[in-house]
Amino acid sequence: MSSANPFHLALFLNFRSPSEGPRMWSRKEADHWTNGRFHVDVVRALEKAAFDFVILEDSSLVPDVYRGTFEVDLKHGLNSPKHDPVPLISMLGYVTRRIGLIPTMSTSFYPPFLLARAVATLDHLTEGRMGWNIVTSSQDRAARNYGMDRLLPHDERYAQAEEYLQLVTRLWASWEPDARVLDEDKNIYVDYRKVHAVDYEGKYYKCRGPLNTLPPVQGRPVLCQAGQSTKGLEFASRWADTIIVSQKGVAAMKAGRAKVRDLARATGRDPDRCKVLYLVDAFIGDTREHAMAKREAQRPRPADQIEIALGLMSGVTEIDFSTFELDAPLPPPSTQGHQGMLNEFLRMAAGRTLRDVALNWHFMSASFVGTPDSIAGEMDEMMQEVGGDGFLFSGFMSREYVADLTEKLVPELQRRGLVRKQYSSHLFRDNLLEF
Ligand SMILES: Cc1cc2nc3c(=O)[nH]c(=O)nc-3n(C[C@H](O)[C@H](O)[C@H](O)COP(=O)(O)O)c2cc1C
Repeated sequence: MSSANPFHLALFLNFRSPSEGPRMWSRKEADHWTNGRFHVDVVRALEKAAFDFVILEDSSLVPDVYRGTFEVDLKHGLNSPKHDPVPLISMLGYVTRRIGLIPTMSTSFYPPFLLARAVATLDHLTEGRMGWNIVTSSQDRAARNYGMDRLLPHDERYAQAEEYLQLVTRLWASWEPDARVLDEDKNIYVDYRKVHAVDYEGKYYKCRGPLNTLPPVQGRPVLCQAGQSTKGLEFASRWADTIIVSQKGVAAMKAGRAKVRDLARATGRDPDRCKVLYLVDAFIGDTREHAMAKREAQRPRPADQIEIALGLMSGVTEIDFSTFELDAPLPPPSTQGHQGMLNEFLRMAAGRTLRDVALNWHFMSASFVGTPDSIAGEMDEMMQEVGGDGFLFSGFMSREYVADLTEKLVPELQRRGLVRKQYSSHLFRDNLLEF
């Protein structure tokens, strides 16, 4: 790596139609996601470009908050139909060799033993490339799909997640790494003295252990977290190997990273072992005008944009945004759902009408528009100012978008020595911690 400031690249994917919004999904692309082949092609392309990892988003409900019906969510394909991302990992792992794979799994819904076992198994199937995007989930409507009346309150969900992490990490450690001795002379497959019950008993969980799989190849999977609230960031800085943030603008990004690193230090961790990635998107063209035209082509019609923005916000906060006056400022609501996302929305809403905010709403730290050369320059400057550690690309997913990233932007970043050209390890965590 020739640059003093290399950074990491990753992609945020959904296991559903490549893009949402009426102007974005096409019959052709929409037909290719259900069997996983779109995702296989995308992840292969990312690996060729030496991306660190891909995150697969998840939730488990069809929201009916906005106007009290499923209409807007389903009409625009905002959250569903969506497949379970965990089985997809096997397929993606089979066709790749180096890229990290991070499905989203909820501490509110997976019993800890089930998650620990599934993740350990997948770390073997992927030969050490498994991650876990730890979410606590945000919607009571999802809880009702699992037989509960509601989720625990926001801050308590993080207290429960704390216990959850203590338990699953003990389960992963319940086998010493060399427990499978394969001693043919003594006829011992596994040395029972190296496998330990965990006998966990906390406020929320009770579990005997040990795990009945082998311990994960990486010891534990790469832990990823994206909570933006104070409790969320505290939790993430204690556990996560990588944290996704979406503060807008360089100053806020820089302050956000400093906060995460201070929190990590306060818990005795080396902050360099916790990589902060910023959510961004990019419109890449042969000229700036070409890139701007691509962005315009993706902009939904105003009436659709309002439904999409308010439908999404309603879904994650469980506040019906259709009840607010569009041409007036938004009265500040509160939520037990996604607090970070609501806070960002309210920050944007200061002094503006709800219509204006909805028409301009996006959830990115930065949106790059330009040629590969100009965007590479902007990314370089931004990372130098912020201090690290990388970018998580999101945006309207399509084959063209992924090709723009991997075949146009990445070669330019590589030419400048800003990102890796090849992986140095076959293990996900080693690659993440390489710089
Ligand atoms: C980039 C990004 C990706 C996220 N992906 C998911 C996801 O796939 N599933 C989910 O339930 N929550 C997801 N979240 C939500 C967070 O994990 C977290 O639950 C949410 O921000 C609320 O936590 P907070 O109140 O601490 O901000 C995501 C958040 C961000 C910023």
